[in-house]
Amino acid sequence: MNFIQQTVVLIKPDGLQRGLVGAIINRFEIKGLKLVGLKMVNFTDEIVNEWYSHHKDKSFFADIKKFMTWTPIVAMVWEGVECINAVRKIVGITKARAAEAGSIRGDFGMSGSQNLIHASDSIESAEKERKMIFSADEIFVYHSGMDSLIYSKEDLDSQDSL
Ligand code: PPS
Repeated sequence: MNFIQQTVVLIKPDGLQRGLVGAIINRFEIKGLKLVGLKMVNFTDEIVNEWYSHHKDKSFFADIKKFMTWTPIVAMVWEGVECINAVRKIVGITKARAAEAGSIRGDFGMSGSQNLIHASDSIESAEKERKMIFSADEIFVYHSGMDSLIYSKEDLDSQDSL
């Protein structure tokens, strides 16, 4: 039994505008995660309404909408053992100027709104977000030669050994 998860990462409009797409993708590659989906998407008001529905009543909701529809975003699905939490740590906390150095927000940003990147926060939201952006044939199943270098056999066999 293993706990391979998929998580959705968005490079927000400020990340695209600032030319940080390559640097951000590199953070996940060097961590040892597997890229299984990648595309550019124009977020519409409808997508934002659904994506950030839990923030609908917040004062900043109109700002989120304006920001996320400013330019295309880069959407990715990354795969790995228990990767949802691992990716959130690489991303860093919402307010970039307080985010830990070494995280993407901590290294590249200062804002709590123009904070470069989004990552799914749970198994449920990862599945919902993946289905909102990617069709089944846009998620790729393939063998990565890196897997045996990144994980031990025990990592892949049992959660107890992680
Ligand atoms: S909170 O306050 O605890 O609910 O915040 P959090 O759950 O960490 O994240 C709120 C998300 O809303 C984004 N946000 C904004 N985007 C654009 N403009 C403004 N003004 C703004 N204020 C908050 C924030 O970056 C979080 O986005 P995600 O994509 O979930 O990280």
